[in-house]
Amino acid sequence: MTLIFKSDADSWADWRQHLRDAAPDLACRDWDEPGDDDSVEFALVWKPPFGELRRRFRNLKAIFSLGAGVDHLLADSDLPPGVPIVRMVEPELTRGMTEYVVLHVLRYHRQTPLFEEQQREHVWRVVPTPTAPKRRVGIMGLGVIGQDSLRVLSALGFALSGWSRTAKSIPGVTCHHGLDGLTAFLTEVDILVCLLPYTADTDNILNRNLLDRLPRGAYLINAGRGGLQDEDDILAALDSGRLAGVTLDVFREEPLPAGHAFWDHPNVTITPHNAGTAQAWSGAAEVAANIKRIRDGQAPLNIADPAAGY
Ligand code: GLV
Repeated sequence: MTLIFKSDADSWADWRQHLRDAAPDLACRDWDEPGDDDSVEFALVWKPPFGELRRRFRNLKAIFSLGAGVDHLLADSDLPPGVPIVRMVEPELTRGMTEYVVLHVLRYHRQTPLFEEQQREHVWRVVPTPTAPKRRVGIMGLGVIGQDSLRVLSALGFALSGWSRTAKSIPGVTCHHGLDGLTAFLTEVDILVCLLPYTADTDNILNRNLLDRLPRGAYLINAGRGGLQDEDDILAALDSGRLAGVTLDVFREEPLPAGHAFWDHPNVTITPHNAGTAQAWSGAAEVAANIKRIRDGQAPLNIADPAAGY
């Protein structure tokens, strides 16, 4: 029983060690290490080349995404048929995403970019600073990560709302859903956080049509996927004042091209797609537990639904 591993980060040694601890009878091999591909039953991968999983591994029982998103797998029209694709749901990836969301919500809430600018200009100017209950934070995408972010933002006292594809009910959060619920959601959000998966339905959802429904001077934080955002429309919304600031962890093209207007825009904050990353010391146990479920004849947890796209 073998697991094949592929990442674009330098994390193989770490995962190998923790997978060994979590599943001692599982042989683990890196994508490029030679070996018997027919013995491979599990793949733990990030962005495998299209068609390769089907071509190389005839006996796959499950494909585990190394990230929470599975768009990098579902974009492959040549996947092995009938093999479940499993989203990475592990506490430290979730924690990292929540840290990112809370950091950047608080940064805008406390007007930190303004005070940084004042410091650069040697300006001492007191600006009224409301506390959290007067700041409306809305999260698009109410899965594990969205709900964990809401939990911490709620402890801080923010006025919270959420939007999701299907109806959700979360105590203390005003929940909206579906395209019909979007306007009511957007008109009452000061800081919009996008954590949606990238699917055919969410492609380019952060476009002018959506941004125009936000209050003037709103903030946008996108830690979902670059494909969710219309980058020209975001720049236009910044320039018109519809958006006061934008923090982006993800981009249509990654790495962000050298000449992109986001790099030098004074109201854009860029991070290199590292808001949340699965940690081997925590994630290996989740993968091992799911492999045990499969070996016991159960379906793995957190299976992606190819029809829904996530
Ligand atoms: C990262 O982008 C992830 O999908 O976890």
